[in-house]
Amino acid sequence: MTKILLEAKNLHKFYKNGQKEVRAVNGVNLQIKKGQSVGIIGPSGAGKSTLLHLLGGIDKPSSGKVILDDIEIYNLPDRELARIRNRRVGFVFQFYHLMPEFTALENVMLPSLITGHRLRDRAEDVLKLVGLKERISHKPGELSGGESQRVAIARALMNEPEILLCDEPTGNLDSKTSESIYELLFSVRSKTSATLVIVTHDEHISKRAEEVIHIKDGKII
Ligand SMILES: Nc1ncnc2c1ncn2[C@@H]1O[C@H](COP(=O)(O)OP(=O)(O)O)[C@@H](O)[C@H]1O
Ligand SMILES: [Mg+2]
Repeated sequence: MTKILLEAKNLHKFYKNGQKEVRAVNGVNLQIKKGQSVGIIGPSGAGKSTLLHLLGGIDKPSSGKVILDDIEIYNLPDRELARIRNRRVGFVFQFYHLMPEFTALENVMLPSLITGHRLRDRAEDVLKLVGLKERISHKPGELSGGESQRVAIARALMNEPEILLCDEPTGNLDSKTSESIYELLFSVRSKTSATLVIVTHDEHISKRAEEVIHIKDGKII
């Protein structure tokens, strides 16, 4: 039996919008097995990003639990939570979130926990892994959308995360480039045996992911 790596239990996240309460995540239960690939599909506003942030320890739930490898992460002190997030979770976002004044290599090196000689070597290795060996000295302004997302994926891989959480990773890319980014994410997963969670409104993911979760109005449907 494969181990459960990440679990959400009766997870809620409510926002106050003036007088109105927005139930962005409204009672989600899910289990993600170690090494599994999971697609989370839903329309805009369904609560996908909020759910992914809760799963990755970025955002605190209003109620409910997130359990990573038997640890209830929101019971941890902030510093300990940050440590787990940095070491065990990699994030990839729709708009890459790269620093424009730094090169691809520097962007990949920046958030790393590794120091010294290993830092540059490791950054070069992950940039090679994502197919950007020739672009390491380029700044984001000199990279295409697909290349920028590859840099962001390399950065996410720097600390060898067990789980890669991707929020609309192809949302800003044309369909051909999107295919190549999916190709990359799934090949990274087979090379590193990382658990892969991809949030998208793109039904194509259902052809690739082992499991697909549909979400609407903050609930799994
Ligand atoms: N920080 C916030 N403050 C208030 N409302 C928010 C906030 N973040 C998200 N929401 C609301 O929560 C709902 C779910 O948002 P989100 O998780 O971004 O959905 P998705 O990623 O599926 O498009 C939406 O109605 C959105 O407007
Ligand atoms: Mg979103």
